[in-house]
Amino acid sequence: MSFKNKTVMITGGASGMGFLSGQCFAKEGANVALVDIDEKNLASKCEEILSEGGKAIYIATDVRDYQQVVRARDRAVEEFGSIDILINSAGGNECRVLNHYEDFVDMPIDVYDWGLDVNLKGPFYFSHTVMKQMVKQKSGVIINIGSVTGEEGSSSGVAYATAKSGVMYGLTKSLAIYGSRHNVRVCCVTPGPVLTREAMAKMKTLIGRAAAPKEVVDFIMYLASDKAAFITGTNHVIDGGRLIMPRS
Ligand SMILES: NC(=O)c1ccc[n+]([C@@H]2O[C@H](COP(=O)([O-])OP(=O)(O)OC[C@H]3O[C@@H](n4cnc5c(N)ncnc54)[C@H](O)[C@@H]3O)[C@@H](O)[C@H]2O)c1
Repeated sequence: MSFKNKTVMITGGASGMGFLSGQCFAKEGANVALVDIDEKNLASKCEEILSEGGKAIYIATDVRDYQQVVRARDRAVEEFGSIDILINSAGGNECRVLNHYEDFVDMPIDVYDWGLDVNLKGPFYFSHTVMKQMVKQKSGVIINIGSVTGEEGSSSGVAYATAKSGVMYGLTKSLAIYGSRHNVRVCCVTPGPVLTREAMAKMKTLIGRAAAPKEVVDFIMYLASDKAAFITGTNHVIDGGRLIMPRS
């Protein structure tokens, strides 16, 4: 799968699967535009890709701020001339990220606002903004990242579960319907536990382990490639069988 002369824009590019995607796409010849709110980490991850011989820029951006999202798109197009692939990877469970574990009814609402804004509005804003460029180009692929939590629900990370369901189904399907008129495909990759953090090893799967980040990134790359030209509007679970585990 060569991505030579393709430009890949990746949110959440300073960490985890977002950064690894950037590294892997760059190794396959792509221009990479890394986006993240964490500017310090973002700059050093971009430097890492450059030092490996890849082509990359970074654009510090808060995915919750539409004006910043528009600026990020414009900067990537200015640098590379197109955006061929968008990966909406920025996200996280609000309870873990903001360290709030109150009961649902006692949770400060700004914790849930964060969860909805980063995990749902962020991919929505980026897709809206980048789709405009893809329509102009008459081509593109958008890969959203869901979570098995969007399928299972969660009594504490309620915003995370709600947002991920929205991304996996409403957003991915709607964008695919719209995008089909413009040669733009849209898919969602929905992981179970992934070892971007050690704690994920505790989450059970049928296969008995969590995924290596590369296993998910390989799948993202397949879906973003021309080999997946007939795939759009679908949610693809990669969870080691977690969702079909017998419940006791
Ligand atoms: N790791 C897992 O087990 C797992 C499982 C299922 C789904 N996911 C999803 O996969 C995606 C990547 O997960 P990961 O573990 O690789 O991520 P990660 O936690 O390593 O990185 C997430 C990145 O998003 C960035 N971010 C947070 N808020 C932002 C904002 N407002 N604007 C811009 N960037 C922001 C963070 O700075 C961070 O660099 C996420 O959407 C996550 O929900 C992960």
